[in-house]
Amino acid sequence: MRISVIGAGYVGLATATSMASKGHEVILHDVDEQRLSAIEKGQDPLDEPGMAEALAAYPVAVTNNLSEAIANAEVHFICVGTAGASWHYDLKSVELVAAAMGRLLSPGSTVVIKSTVVPGTTETVIMPLLQLSGKKVGTDFGVCVNPEFLGVGTALRNALHPDRIIIGQWDERSGDKLAALYRGFNCPILKMDLKSAEMVKCASNSFLAAKISFINEIGNICKAFGIDVYEVASAMGHDPRIGHKFLNAGTGFGGSCLPKDLRALIASSRRVGYEPEILEHVLTLNEEQPRRMIKLLKSHIPDLNGKVIGVLGLAFKPNTTDVRESVAVSIVAALLKEGARVRAHDPGAMASFQKLFADIEYGTAAHALDSDAVLIVTEWDEFEQLDYCGKIVIDGRRVMKAREALVYEGLCW
Ligand code: UDX
Repeated sequence: MRISVIGAGYVGLATATSMASKGHEVILHDVDEQRLSAIEKGQDPLDEPGMAEALAAYPVAVTNNLSEAIANAEVHFICVGTAGASWHYDLKSVELVAAAMGRLLSPGSTVVIKSTVVPGTTETVIMPLLQLSGKKVGTDFGVCVNPEFLGVGTALRNALHPDRIIIGQWDERSGDKLAALYRGFNCPILKMDLKSAEMVKCASNSFLAAKISFINEIGNICKAFGIDVYEVASAMGHDPRIGHKFLNAGTGFGGSCLPKDLRALIASSRRVGYEPEILEHVLTLNEEQPRRMIKLLKSHIPDLNGKVIGVLGLAFKPNTTDVRESVAVSIVAALLKEGARVRAHDPGAMASFQKLFADIEYGTAAHALDSDAVLIVTEWDEFEQLDYCGKIVIDGRRVMKAREALVYEGLCW
């Protein structure tokens, strides 16, 4: 089948390559010409494991011309970003694409919304824009919602081996067409209406966020009792109803998805007149964890003014250069507010962090360790090889080797 993918970010690139790998003819659209020319050369602008190899093995056509992307394609995936203002998705790009796409759609084609949006958005915002040209959904073209569940650093693997495919369908014919497109993927395909599919994405990420805040809360209680929360979580995880994943207590969740999806669901819940108290607490607790880390540090060094504090880990999780909503941002901001000098190290994310904090020191891990105290904020494997002897370490991510420090404090253990 000929497929167009609009937006060459994580979602678009992973969608394009996974569909190309199943033998579909894919054309990828983006407005960023530099990004397109890299993709055309088989380079991965996002540095996702396996992506460059997949692009070389299953090339996708690229274009910055929307008409060219839409012409002759039967299915159009809208994958443009919606990250924006802190409590709402920014629909500007989705709206622009939908408004322009409507008049270009050939009869019987299907538009698939993959961009993350809150429940009701496709029906109330996107469909009216697609219909501006006078063509009607359900008669002239079809609409589906097909959320993605990709992690940064695992985007291609997640796209090729999904746990489930969610298809929100307006019209059955489009839902069937999309299901046929996914036939080569070995997982359950679940069909539902448009807003339920939108909710599956928001609810899934909010649940993951809640699981992390839950174990962080248990961890904070464990710390007060002198209990190791990791021992507790590991034992809890053997219950298949609980599971082992997402029970790593520490400084909390960051990244481009969990915090944003949680806040967007809270805001849209309030809009429909429901105060989502559990979700609100999930967020509050997450904001509290970095503050707890600073408090622990101050229990050893009460006045941070003029002190040199090392920060190990700046990325929002290991093995990425991504610092979006990284916990390190709040930690470094708090340290600077206290008058501390920050010596930071991250194996991959120093360049991106430098764009946010130009005036702190960046260097090797040894340089960061050469400080009055060290905070471990991201659990890179490399941090298990460092020499912590004689240091004061506040560990937010459970790095076992750091226990050899002169003073060692785990955030939740
Ligand atoms: C997440 C979802 O996992 C993915 O399904 C969705 O499509 C996009 O958002 P991602 O943001 O790449 O993926 O990272 P993830 O691995 O989920 O981690 C998010 C944050 O939670 C990180 O800051 C991580 O350090 C933190 N985390 C994760 C914990 O603090 N404890 C855990 O047990 C797991």
